[in-house]
Amino acid sequence: MSLNNKVVIVTGGSSGLGLAISKRMAKDGYQVLINYNSNEEGAARCRDEITKAGGRASIIQFNVSDREQVEASLEKFFGENSDAQLYGLINNAGITKDTLVGLMSDDDFKDVIETNLYGSFYLMRWSVKKMLLKKEGFVINMASLSGQVGNGGQANYAASKAGVIAMTKSLANEVGRRGIRINCVAPGIIETKMTENIPFLEEMKKNIPLRRIGKPEEVASVVSFLASTEASYMTGQTLSVNGGLYFS
Ligand SMILES: NC(=O)c1ccc[n+]([C@@H]2O[C@H](COP(=O)([O-])OP(=O)(O)OC[C@H]3O[C@@H](n4cnc5c(N)ncnc54)[C@H](OP(=O)(O)O)[C@@H]3O)[C@@H](O)[C@H]2O)c1
Repeated sequence: MSLNNKVVIVTGGSSGLGLAISKRMAKDGYQVLINYNSNEEGAARCRDEITKAGGRASIIQFNVSDREQVEASLEKFFGENSDAQLYGLINNAGITKDTLVGLMSDDDFKDVIETNLYGSFYLMRWSVKKMLLKKEGFVINMASLSGQVGNGGQANYAASKAGVIAMTKSLANEVGRRGIRINCVAPGIIETKMTENIPFLEEMKKNIPLRRIGKPEEVASVVSFLASTEASYMTGQTLSVNGGLYFS
């Protein structure tokens, strides 16, 4: 199947999971729109790697938590590229601001919710309206194990990701009849910038049944499955990619 004019937006595609997912989507045949916020160099490198390998990719700057910026940038891109059909959205951009609740400032809480939850909402609302016109498409939201079971030191982050899971189920319910599938992936601990300073990592590995942390490509392959027609009867689901780890 040629997917070449079918565009998949990957937010936070300049590094970590978003980088691996962008490359995987391109390998699967989609045209990838790689979003970045601050790391233009990383996003450009990702685009160049994809095009060198024969795929199609562009980069786009916006801050996911700024609704006006999100909508204006996407309107501009799709206005200027009339052959491009928005087919998929991968809401991957995310941040942490970890600390105990007693020490957590209003801004620590607000920033994480605005980026992870509002950001996903802004992107989903804009994208799903376009997908409804074609009656096809998918959204994959990046949740987290913390959003499934909670995690001390991450009340803000866990709340944002639990919100993402609930929002996914709700939207799946709304748009399923129009042929649009909305799912989540919930990674455990994956080797990226976000996890490079996790304290007691070696100790934590002992609690992971697979005894290691995951690689970004191992999340990208699950995203690829959910995006594909192999997952055509799945919506509103959260697939865990965590080596068997459940925080206790
Ligand atoms: N790594 C893990 O163990 C793990 C586990 C569970 C869930 N996750 C989730 O997976 C996703 C990716 O995380 P990662 O580990 O790959 O982290 P990462 O390497 O720190 O990458 C985060 C990405 O998010 C982007 N981003 C942050 N704020 C943004 C904003 N306001 N607007 C647009 N982009 C923004 C960054 O873009 P710029 O650099 O361009 O600013 C960057 O590309 C996140 O949603 C995270 O919560 C990760």
